[in-house]
Amino acid sequence: MIIGVPKEIKNNESRVGMTPAGVLELTKRNHTVYVQATAGIASGFSDEDYQHVGAQILPSIDAVYAKSDMIVKVKEPIPEEYSLIKEDQVVFTYFHFAADQELTEAMIDSKSVCIAYETVQDANGRLPLLTPMSEVAGRMSIQQGAKYLEKPVKGKGLLLGGVPGVSPGKVLILGAGVVGIQAAKMAAGLGAHVTILDINMDRLRYVNDIMPSHVVTEFSNEYNIRKHIKTHDLIIGGVLIPGAKAPKLITRDMLKEMDHGTVIVDVAVDQGGCIETTKATTHQDPVYIIDEVVHYCVANMPGAVPHTSTVALTNVTLPYVINLAQKGWEKACKEDTTLFKGLNIIKGKVVYQPIAEAFGWEEVHQ
Ligand SMILES: NC(=O)c1ccc[n+]([C@@H]2O[C@H](COP(=O)([O-])OP(=O)(O)OC[C@H]3O[C@@H](n4cnc5c(N)ncnc54)[C@H](O)[C@@H]3O)[C@@H](O)[C@H]2O)c1
Repeated sequence: MIIGVPKEIKNNESRVGMTPAGVLELTKRNHTVYVQATAGIASGFSDEDYQHVGAQILPSIDAVYAKSDMIVKVKEPIPEEYSLIKEDQVVFTYFHFAADQELTEAMIDSKSVCIAYETVQDANGRLPLLTPMSEVAGRMSIQQGAKYLEKPVKGKGLLLGGVPGVSPGKVLILGAGVVGIQAAKMAAGLGAHVTILDINMDRLRYVNDIMPSHVVTEFSNEYNIRKHIKTHDLIIGGVLIPGAKAPKLITRDMLKEMDHGTVIVDVAVDQGGCIETTKATTHQDPVYIIDEVVHYCVANMPGAVPHTSTVALTNVTLPYVINLAQKGWEKACKEDTTLFKGLNIIKGKVVYQPIAEAFGWEEVHQ
C-alpha cells in the first residue's frame, strides 16, 4: 500500500502522524511511505531520519495526498485539506466529527474512508488511541501546577515537594482515571501529599493498592470536595463521564474557601471542565485568575510536548496502521472489532451512530 504522512497545518499543532520507527515497520513489509518535507521537524524528526528508513520525501502536501492510498495524520483535516482527500482514500486520524458539521459534510462529499482514532474502542469500552494523550496531560498537570504555585506567577509561593524541615504541598485530584492516576504518580514522586477522589470504588481500590501511602483515596462527593479545597494547594480536574459534559464539582462560591494563590489545573476543560469557572486557554496565554485562584485550562496540553506526544500516539496507532496496510481497510476492520469501531464515514455514508445523532440525521448505514 502507499501511505502518506502530511505535515499538520492546524494552528499550533506540532505533532506528526508517524515516526521513523513506524516508517521502518512499513517499508520492511514492502509498503511505500511518502512523508511531506519537514513534517516531523517540530517533533524532533528530520527528513533524513525518515529517508534512512526508506521513506520518500515529497515537497508539498498536495503531492502526499495525491499519491497515497492511506493518509495517516494527527488532527482532523482543516478546510484547506478537504479538496485534497480523494475518493476511496483511507484517512486515519483524530476527527471528532460530532463537534464539526462542516468537516463531516466535507468528508461525506469526498467519498473517502474515515477511521477516527477517538472512536477506536476495545471490548472493555476503553479508547486505546486516546489513552496516551491523557497520560501526557495527567503527568503535565503536575509540572504546570508546580510552576504556577510560584509567587512571580501569582501562586502561593510554595515548593510542591517541600524541603527538609518544611512540609510538602498538598495536591487534590478529582477523578482517578488515566489523567488522575498519572497526575498522582508525578505528584507523589515529587514528595507532595496527594488526595485522589472518584465515584468508582474499583478505581479507588486500584489506586490504593498501587500508590505509596502518601497518596490517599476518598470517595468523591460535595462534602469531601468542600473539605479538601480549603487545605490543598494544587487541584487537578480529571473527571470524565463518557459522552457527556464534565460535572461541575467545584462551583464559583467554593473559590472563596480556597487560600489565595491556590492553583487549579482543569485537564477536563475539553469536556467543558469540572470547575464552574473554567474557560479554555492556550499555551500562549495559559492562566487567568478569579478570586485570587490561578486557573490553568489549556485544552490541548500534549501540544506543548510534541516529541513525547508524537511518540506516545504513534506507539499505539502503528499496529492498526500496519494492519490496515497489510489487509486493506475492509478486511482489517472486519477482523478486528476494536478497529471496526473507528469506522465513521465510508465512501459518502455515515456509519457511526453518535455522528448522525449529533446533527439530527436519521439514517446511519451499517
Ligand atoms: N486538556 C487536555 O489537553 C486533555 C488531554 C487529554 C485528556 N483530557 C481530558 O481529561 C479528562 C479525563 O480523561 P481520562 O482519560 O482520565 O478519563 P478516564 O475515563 O480515564 O477517567 C475519568 C474518571 O473520572 C471519574 N469520575 C466521573 N465522575 C466523577 C465525579 N463526580 N467525581 C470524581 N470522579 C469522577 C470516573 O469514574 C473516571 O475514573 C477527559 O475529559 C479528557 O478528554 C484533556
